[in-house]
Amino acid sequence: MTPGFHDEELLGKVYDSALMRRLWPYLRPHWRFVAAAVALIPVRVVLEMIPGSLFGSALNHLAGVDRFPGLPALRFLAVPPGGFSPIAWLALMFLLVAALGASVDFARGVSMAVMGQRAMLELRRSLFQHVQRLPLRFFDRYPVGRLVTRLGNDIESASEMFSAGLVALLADLVMMAAFAVVLFWLNWRLAACAMAVVPVMAGAAIVFRWKVRDAFRVVRQKIARINAHLQETITGMRVVQLFAREERNFAEFMRTNGEHRDAWFTSINYESLLTSTIGMAGNLTTAFILWYGARLMGYGSVAMGDLLLFVDWMRRFYRPLQDLSAKYSVMQSSMASLERVFQLLDIATEPEEPATLGGPRAIRGEITFDKVSFAYESQPVLKNLSFSVSPGQRVALVGHTGAGKTTVLKLLARMYEPQAGRILIDGTDVRDIPRAELRRHIAFVLQDVFLFTGDLAYNVSLGRADISQANIESAMRTAHLEEFVARLPQGYQQLVHERGGNFSVGERQLLSFARALAQRPEILLLDEATSSVDTTTEALIQDALHALMRNKTSMVVAHRLSTIQDVDRILVLHHGELRESGTHDQLLAQRGLYWRLYQLQYAVQERSAA
Ligand SMILES: Nc1ncnc2c1ncn2[C@@H]1O[C@H](COP(=O)(O)OP(=O)(O)OP(=O)(O)O)[C@@H](O)[C@H]1O
Ligand SMILES: [Mg+2]
Repeated sequence: MTPGFHDEELLGKVYDSALMRRLWPYLRPHWRFVAAAVALIPVRVVLEMIPGSLFGSALNHLAGVDRFPGLPALRFLAVPPGGFSPIAWLALMFLLVAALGASVDFARGVSMAVMGQRAMLELRRSLFQHVQRLPLRFFDRYPVGRLVTRLGNDIESASEMFSAGLVALLADLVMMAAFAVVLFWLNWRLAACAMAVVPVMAGAAIVFRWKVRDAFRVVRQKIARINAHLQETITGMRVVQLFAREERNFAEFMRTNGEHRDAWFTSINYESLLTSTIGMAGNLTTAFILWYGARLMGYGSVAMGDLLLFVDWMRRFYRPLQDLSAKYSVMQSSMASLERVFQLLDIATEPEEPATLGGPRAIRGEITFDKVSFAYESQPVLKNLSFSVSPGQRVALVGHTGAGKTTVLKLLARMYEPQAGRILIDGTDVRDIPRAELRRHIAFVLQDVFLFTGDLAYNVSLGRADISQANIESAMRTAHLEEFVARLPQGYQQLVHERGGNFSVGERQLLSFARALAQRPEILLLDEATSSVDTTTEALIQDALHALMRNKTSMVVAHRLSTIQDVDRILVLHHGELRESGTHDQLLAQRGLYWRLYQLQYAVQERSAA
């Protein structure tokens, strides 16, 4: 892993209006939930003011003063109906208000969560669709782990914006503003004292939050590194154990693990410092207000219940300050996640194409490469390559490793586009054939067989509804897998483990043949794996291969030259250029590149036989 690889884990702004504008289409269908949550804010603020008033009222009553502290408009709450003792009534009202407050919180929490999850479902859907339409060239460079993080963690973290951020942040701000106003209205002198510590609290919040953020960034980097290390170790466990790398691997892991723990400690230290500093500042003012307020009371200007109300409201004024900074960082990381998600959505997909060229039609399967040049990056891989294959012809591609054989097949299936030249099928440029249509006519057996988690039948049909069980079975028979399936306890329903780990290399290859056969393509592209299988299996594969090539245009990359001796034509590629072309016998007679390749393999076989 290169250093700086996880630099993406940077934290962004708290609120980015450009991002929010992009998010809006996902939120718009659920705007009623936001509206409801916002509408509940003033209700919540008023409910928050009542308990102090009720308590203060009770205290005043006990002291023999008939005074309702707090907003006069709410005075009616403290008036008991006939027959009720005033204290019992106040206690009952207190309970009712608390229950109402809890219901409002519940409603707000639920509506924001529902909206957030619905919006994230849509966002994840768009992202998944987008990723499936990205050009294959994109996957050559973008690490898989990072893609998984985008689709999983980042969307999860963006959704926190709704559960713990956006509306809650607004509610906190409104709450603080409202309480500041009523505190001044209650007693401006005491309120001024209470406000004096706000800059201290805000300062502490900013400084410590900043430190927490730095520490947390390190935490995220380390966790990303731990995950990458875990992924590599687990997927490469065979190599780890066979090469006895456990100890070195463990030491490496423990170093990152320790760094991760230290970063967490730092972050928690500052987090705790922040909470206690704000708490202490609040307590300091409470103590001061008690002392100062009692002095004022001595002069008869403040009743006991009023003092209690003031302290209660003051603490409710301070409370959001503490959460505010936590919500601030939630917003920050949500925004950063959202930004990364949108960055991925901004990567251009393959342009939209019509699904077909006008209904299903059979093709003859004539292939022409016309002066095709291609490079994955800057290094040219195919140079001015021209050849043609007539319908039904069986052609083999041979050449040294890295000569460009797989690349020829990939270009034909439009997995990549050539930079120069044309590729024609039945005289039509493949660029004018929609990919979906093209790939209905072509079956591509890849060099590295990929099996999906699912049952055996699914791995042959790949879920295509038009491939019946009878099709699957006949394909398996042709691929010589009938006996193999019969031996499996669950037959066609046998589960395939991740990437086909429970099948042998030869079985997997035959299975990939069956997959191609079941599709009944007009053109077969086959990239043979270099796996060495036993001679029986090799004979099976060779036989299945011939069945596969029957009655269709086939281009086969072969590494075992013995398998292709009877094809119609052999093309010899060398450094991306066509060097020789002809039948096996013709090419041997030329005594050129093919002859040398053949001699080499023959010599190896002779030696291993000896
Ligand atoms: N996705 C890619 N990005 C960049 N370069 C690539 C990519 N795939 C292949 N190449 C390069 O292109 C060249 C041709 O690769 P190709 O896979 O066509 O070789 P090949 O003839 O099939 O070899 P082999 O016999 O080993 O399968 C190689 O040098 C390889 O390094
Ligand atoms: Mg190859």
